[in-house]
Amino acid sequence: MEAFTVIAHRGASGYLPEHTLEGAAMAHAMGADFIEQDVVLTRDRSLIVLHDLFLDAVTDVADRFPDRCRDDGRHYAIDFDLKDIRTLRVNERRQTNGKAAFPSRFPVDSNIFRVPTLDEEIILIQGMNQSTGRDTGLYIEPKSPAWHLREGADIMKDLLTVLSHHGYHSRSDKVRVQSFDDQALKRARNDLKTELTLVQLIGDNSWRESDTDFDYLLTDAGLREVSSYADGIGPWLLQVVQFNGPTGQAGFTSLVEQAHQHGLFVHAYTLRSDQLPKEMNDFDQALRFLLEHSGLDGIFTDFPDRITKLS
Ligand code: G3P
Ligand code: CA
Repeated sequence: MEAFTVIAHRGASGYLPEHTLEGAAMAHAMGADFIEQDVVLTRDRSLIVLHDLFLDAVTDVADRFPDRCRDDGRHYAIDFDLKDIRTLRVNERRQTNGKAAFPSRFPVDSNIFRVPTLDEEIILIQGMNQSTGRDTGLYIEPKSPAWHLREGADIMKDLLTVLSHHGYHSRSDKVRVQSFDDQALKRARNDLKTELTLVQLIGDNSWRESDTDFDYLLTDAGLREVSSYADGIGPWLLQVVQFNGPTGQAGFTSLVEQAHQHGLFVHAYTLRSDQLPKEMNDFDQALRFLLEHSGLDGIFTDFPDRITKLS
């Protein structure tokens, strides 16, 4: 059996603002197997590392460009050229009321970080791989491919082009392309002919992440279909662990076992010490339980050092 895979979720985001180069460097130093990048497109078609389609929750865009929001009050990255985005300061994630999303993390008013491009982050990780002798991988999620297509932008195609420029072509390359959108993954495999390792993320239909029917993907027929175009799945942690009865006793769904039967690896998201499922009150205990009993092949975490220190 392969070693448990540690994926630094949005970098070492438990310690430094998500998707900053500093957070990626910290995750690399902590020994993560992969560092995750969510990416979106700018107006001039640069891929930037950003979780939301809009810039509001993690930058000062509303102060800097108050007149450039859409009707919903948000400033979308695709309405800005890279040169404007480069002038923004990145902060620790805020809620819409301006307060810190994670109060015990890095201060929200630091004003010292910038939005990286995917190119820059790849250069950073490949450079650190060379200088440290490590082989840390990329785990990239092009955000909302269908939304980008409606905006006239083909984010999956642009992502595969950038990866190709940096030497990522085959399944053995240490890069994973993940998406909630099954049509985008099928197109990447069948039409764009990528040979890279693909991961079908699985959410809950109520989240409206994409038009994908996650209830179907969780069935045996659904998982069989996923195995025709992807190599692994990325379910929500609570689709793997369940808490039953009045005491909330933890148990497991059959998802991991079923996925393995179809040859799919399983990397669940997201283990956070400051946002554990309410039935779990200790990160290390939860982690040990998952490592020993879940059958998971890996996990996304904001705190990669809490896992890598165990090995
Ligand atoms: O991509 C795995 C996990 O990151 C999915 O959730 O919303 O953090 O992108 P999100
Ligand atoms: Ca993600």
